[in-house]
Amino acid sequence: MRVAANLLLRHAREVLTCSGKLPTSAARADFDPAPLGLIEDGAVAIADDRIVAVGRTAEVERSVTLTPGATVIDVGDAMLTPGLVDAHTHSLFVGSRAGEFSLRVQGAGYAEIAAKGGGIAASVKALRGATDEALRAALGRRLDAMARFGTTTVEVKSGYALETAQELRSLKLARSMGDRVVPTFLGLHAVPPELRGTEDGRARYLATVAGRMLDAVVAGGDARFIDAYVDGPGFSVAECAPALERAKALGLRARLHVGQFEDVGGAQLAASLGAASADHLEHVSDEGLRAMAAADVTAVLLPGAAFSLGQAMPDARRMRALGVAVALATDCNPGTSHCDALPWMAAFGVRQMGLSTVEAWFAITATAAGCLDLSDRGRLAVGARADVAVLDLPGWEALPYVLGSPRALATVTAGALRRWE
Ligand code: NIG
Ligand code: FE
Repeated sequence: MRVAANLLLRHAREVLTCSGKLPTSAARADFDPAPLGLIEDGAVAIADDRIVAVGRTAEVERSVTLTPGATVIDVGDAMLTPGLVDAHTHSLFVGSRAGEFSLRVQGAGYAEIAAKGGGIAASVKALRGATDEALRAALGRRLDAMARFGTTTVEVKSGYALETAQELRSLKLARSMGDRVVPTFLGLHAVPPELRGTEDGRARYLATVAGRMLDAVVAGGDARFIDAYVDGPGFSVAECAPALERAKALGLRARLHVGQFEDVGGAQLAASLGAASADHLEHVSDEGLRAMAAADVTAVLLPGAAFSLGQAMPDARRMRALGVAVALATDCNPGTSHCDALPWMAAFGVRQMGLSTVEAWFAITATAAGCLDLSDRGRLAVGARADVAVLDLPGWEALPYVLGSPRALATVTAGALRRWE
């Protein structure tokens, strides 16, 4: 029996479905494209927000009936891929920190800049002073910029407010963009400027986050995850544990900033919490990685931040060898990674972090969706959410080959088509 479809993308030179399973280890099999589920002269048929058929164009056309007024697009030389998934961003921000970047390229360190009132504190000041409209417009523009590279799902953290009412506002604004955004509560991003510099202020902030602020976030219902900056310039394991454990009991799963500058045991903390992900991981021990593998915690690696800060790239090959699932994300933020281009992160993954191109595709699609608990995204399959990217690439191998990021000619998000040409 034929199924109805109101959008048909057909005659794509190549469709990449991620329908297979990536091997879990470092075997040479990682270079075998079989898990990508490639289809030549392929098509994807969509009814409302779901995919109803995927396959060779001729087969798909035989299996669907187009509804009156249906949209049909001949894709031709471009690729169809799952809508890309960016699993770590701080993209709800206003204001530029180009001045700080300039200082950094002259040799100033992250901690030094933060101590001078730059860094996260500068973005906190800007966000607190911005209207809802200004924030929503800034986030909307950024989501569109990301979609121009094929990204249809974006995790967005709070953490530039650091005060209960404003953290709630941030989460609500992120949520108001619809379910292309996955909001994460990052109260433990930094001590707010007004409480900085005293032990007492720091302790009071930690208690507020673990108590009143967390209660309000859970009651508000806008956050899907909780994050904390478990690092030398951030917070210790002992400081983060109370908020994260309470959040877990209240139903909020963790995804943590771990080891961007220093290994303070964040990977083990993520594992003990059953966290969805531990992110950054420029500095992490084998024990930490083994604990993550055993607890099924995905490593979300952020080459844009390492690149901007002039750090060595996190070693994705070593993580895969130890059995850790690897996703790649932009870390889009005004301080350490002013980046909208998720495919570029995949290029870093292959050129500088030891991933195969096959692994890199999974890292920006299925694996990224998995660590956001979005099992119906990141793959092109019947029944999955209709999130598709039409990418200006001649084929899957070209992802790390083109310099810069491939453009999306169009995206489909929950069935809604946007053309970017
Ligand atoms: O992921 N390390 C903490 N958070 C961000 C930086 C945020 C900022 O500098 O505004 C990161 O790199
Ligand atoms: Fe981050």
